[in-house]
Amino acid sequence: MTTHALRASILHCTRDPGLAGDTSAVEYLRDAVVVIEAGLIAAVAPADALLPTLGADVQIEDHRGKLLLPGFIDTHVHYPQVDVIASYGAQLLDWLNTYTFPAETRFAERAHADAAASFFLDRLLENGTTTASVFCTVHPESVNAFFTESERRNLRMIAGKCLMDRHAPDGLRDSAITGIAESRDLIERWHGHARSLYAITPRFAATSTSEQLRAMGELAGAFPSTYVQSHVAENKAEIAWVAELFPEFRSYLDVYDQFGLLRDRSIYAHCIYLDDADRNRITASGATPSFCPTSNLFIGSGLYNLQQALSAGNRVSIGSDVGGGTSYSMLQTLAEAYKIQQLQGVSLSPAYALYLATLGGARALSLDDKLGSVVVGKEADLVLLDPLATPLLARRTSLRDDPLDTFFALMTLGDDRAVAATYAAGQCVHRRR
Ligand code: GUN
Ligand code: ZN
Repeated sequence: MTTHALRASILHCTRDPGLAGDTSAVEYLRDAVVVIEAGLIAAVAPADALLPTLGADVQIEDHRGKLLLPGFIDTHVHYPQVDVIASYGAQLLDWLNTYTFPAETRFAERAHADAAASFFLDRLLENGTTTASVFCTVHPESVNAFFTESERRNLRMIAGKCLMDRHAPDGLRDSAITGIAESRDLIERWHGHARSLYAITPRFAATSTSEQLRAMGELAGAFPSTYVQSHVAENKAEIAWVAELFPEFRSYLDVYDQFGLLRDRSIYAHCIYLDDADRNRITASGATPSFCPTSNLFIGSGLYNLQQALSAGNRVSIGSDVGGGTSYSMLQTLAEAYKIQQLQGVSLSPAYALYLATLGGARALSLDDKLGSVVVGKEADLVLLDPLATPLLARRTSLRDDPLDTFFALMTLGDDRAVAATYAAGQCVHRRR
């Protein structure tokens, strides 16, 4: 078994620091070594204690001066929207029809899906994201393309085939019957294969009939270890449309709930316009809201109230939502999250920001036994950040000798340039040029 080690400053959360940022929930080891064996973290300790115990054959990569963090977790993103990012001038429903659906139609072609999956995963890795919950298109081959590429890189990824049996153009619809049969086949092929995990993926309530939603809920019940991912309460016109389509339900979220799609391991992007009853149902069911700040600003959807969600006990996570979102960088995603909270009079602490993108995401996905912090036994998915990546960052981060302040500067000013390297299961999968 090959053993190797990384030497750097380690920064991670050991528990939930809360929105205000209890710094005792954050551990910082200025000069530390992480030993990696068989893709897992085998040891972590200060360098002066650990180095003398290592055999002469252990290769040590020396990154002193850089910050080693758990790999970032993006709980909501669309890989088929690589060509949709930065599309001008539309809010959600027009944006879907004008830009998104035409782009997704092209994924009927396997070669297009292969190339897009590879391009997308390279973008995640150059941004330090090692786990994501990913929408594919309605085409089962788009899922095969995605997992083939993610397994080639040995990544822990969640993904699934979108289901839509109405209100979508030709070439992007399945049916209650075919959508479920295809999803079931994909679950059997990919869920638990290598590091892949499957998500049953209703696009949103408006593009599925009651029949299809019911069948997805049954599938989610039959495979409780799979994920469910969808969108809810993102945009006011969308909410009004769902209310028209499902007049008998108490709320938009209640549609998913009544069809059995609200449970542990279900991820609902946006959740901007929920009421107290909805937020309490989210908590009781174990579902996670994925807060998607760059998307919410770019598509003009609204300002997510993080404090309200946390007060209701929601396990919130954070998503890029590219192509509605404008950056694959979780650093940039956190920067926009901070601004959205500032507009509502709340300052998102650096400690909680770090938590949202790492251990908080892992917890929301029930993967915190494997991911989210730099501790022995967890999978060695790590990101190495460079506080001196740009002249501005170098100037700003040299002002104060405080790791959380450095992280705050990195999330505010940084992006892929600040990611020196990314490791998946201990192997380097990206190194900055
Ligand atoms: N609602 C339904 N589909 C989508 C999508 O692709 N992106 C976003 N942001 N919202 C959606
Ligand atoms: Zn989305």
